[in-house]
Amino acid sequence: MKITPDVEALLGYIRPHKARLLQAALAMTVLAAMRAAVAYLIGPVIQTVFIDRNTEMLRLIMIGLPAVFVIKAAADYATSYLINYVGQKTVQRMRDDLFTRVHQLSMEFHWRKRSSDVMSRVINDLGNVQSAVQSVPLYLIRDLFTVVALVGVLFYLNWRFAAVSLFILPTAAWMLKVLSRKMRRSSSKAQATMGDISHKFQESLQGMTVVKAFNYEEQAISRFRRSNDDFFSETMRFLRASAISSPLMELLGNIMLVGMIFLGGREIMADRMTPGDFFSFIAAFFTAYMPLKNIAGLNTRVQLGLASWDRVRQVLDERPDVPAPASPARLGDVRGTVEFRGVTYKYPSRDTVVLRDLSFSVKEGEVAAFVGPSGSGKTTIIQLLLRFFDPLSGAVLIDGKDLRELDPAELRAATGLVTQDTILFDNDVTGNLTIGRPGATEAEIREAAEAADAHPFITAMPQGYATQLGERGVKLSGGQRQRLAIARAIIKKPKILLLDEATSNLDTASEQAVQASIERILKGRTVLMVAHRLSTVRNADKIFVLDKGALAESGSHEELMSRGGVYKKLWEAQS
Ligand SMILES: Nc1ncnc2c1ncn2[C@@H]1O[C@H](COP(=O)(O)OP(=O)(O)OP(=O)(O)O)[C@@H](O)[C@H]1O
Ligand SMILES: [Mg+2]
Repeated sequence: MKITPDVEALLGYIRPHKARLLQAALAMTVLAAMRAAVAYLIGPVIQTVFIDRNTEMLRLIMIGLPAVFVIKAAADYATSYLINYVGQKTVQRMRDDLFTRVHQLSMEFHWRKRSSDVMSRVINDLGNVQSAVQSVPLYLIRDLFTVVALVGVLFYLNWRFAAVSLFILPTAAWMLKVLSRKMRRSSSKAQATMGDISHKFQESLQGMTVVKAFNYEEQAISRFRRSNDDFFSETMRFLRASAISSPLMELLGNIMLVGMIFLGGREIMADRMTPGDFFSFIAAFFTAYMPLKNIAGLNTRVQLGLASWDRVRQVLDERPDVPAPASPARLGDVRGTVEFRGVTYKYPSRDTVVLRDLSFSVKEGEVAAFVGPSGSGKTTIIQLLLRFFDPLSGAVLIDGKDLRELDPAELRAATGLVTQDTILFDNDVTGNLTIGRPGATEAEIREAAEAADAHPFITAMPQGYATQLGERGVKLSGGQRQRLAIARAIIKKPKILLLDEATSNLDTASEQAVQASIERILKGRTVLMVAHRLSTVRNADKIFVLDKGALAESGSHEELMSRGGVYKKLWEAQS
């Protein structure tokens, strides 16, 4: 096999386990020898004990045969253990690297790749890689050695008989291969429809509220039935092939046995072979069957493994398209001025520009608000400021420094974000609140929770701050989740706080309370907020009104009201 960079990278994962592979090779060699020995010994046992009635030999066999079996079992155990260790260890590191890589990649990667696609690489493809990594040494050393040793036994016993039989074996292996190819094709189709079925189940389970509210049950059920029917027919096709295959194989084996009895009987009658040798011959012949079958299927497994490895490598080889500079400029003590200088942006998957030559600046300690219709680019501005992606042209600056010159980790240490939908992790309340500052003290956590008006409902839960959240944890209301998100951002004490509709799920009274405490705790820090409810932004130092990615107006509430433009119309519509 030619070693491409592809295979070279795969070998890089396996190489650290060279010592264990060598031990496994040794165990496999012993195992192969023992398998051949067991097959060979059957003849002498039958001959000396049962036919010649040799008592001395019986005693010897009572000691020798168990010893052979014990060595064989030990070698078998060592082989499986070591090979599985290497296989598991190899994909463990790949899984680790995949998880790490996914965290290093830019947002662009996550827009481009569906999460289910990445998941299938982590689960299915790594499984194929593991199977290939384990099969190659197993089939090439254990099984090949076994076959060679057994063929040696066959020829040693009776070379003419052996030569004839060796025509039969490959024929059987070939027939089996044709059958299994057919089975594999229908099995992979069945697997694909099974994926479809589990997706539909998940979709309905997650969206049950909407399914019920829209009377969508019947449509969902009939769509499900179609996939379910497909799965049935694909599986039946597979089962038909496999139902025919095992009786067919048995029949084939029996016919071979009859043929061998005929040929062997003639050899025995011609005194060219003892009955004992004949039994050894049969044993060796049929012992060679499984290893031969494995070797015949090796190429398919390797091809499958390499194709899967390729899909795994695609993710491992992805590079962030928002690279960190080699020698980043330091932010140092962040003041918190923000400037957009002629920023134009377009999402890679779309043709339309979402921000067009946008310029604005926010001074240290100011509260700036962004308002505008849905889809006008407010969230995009927030994400550009976190450098989730770079502008097509123009620049985003913090303290006069272009974000592209900064270390993204330092930038994100200086910023705090509350997103439109709150993401909670499988962790307790405290763990969820302190993801931005793991060392926060109990007092700091409590202060932030109180400021976000989250403390009362947290303490009302039976386990308080130790209550488990996330998918498997307690369910919270939209407003409660949002309060946790705000507390999470406050604990971080960021120099620049980014609030993307952070209080949209709170009632007006608690919205005002929360806003007041944010301002108290984060006094002197820069706040950029997005809000649809204009009453929320009324007190902001500057209000930027966006329309289709461009600045329509800006100024304080009073200035904008007296101007009588878009903002005034919006305000009047809302009050
Ligand atoms: N990941 C993405 N890929 C492609 N297009 C996107 C992506 N995210 C947003 N857009 C598009 O960019 C435009 C601006 O989106 P953005 O989320 O910035 O709007 P917004 O002002 O925050 O809206 P809303 O008030 O509804 O939150 C929209 O037309 C949206 O469809
Ligand atoms: Mg938005």
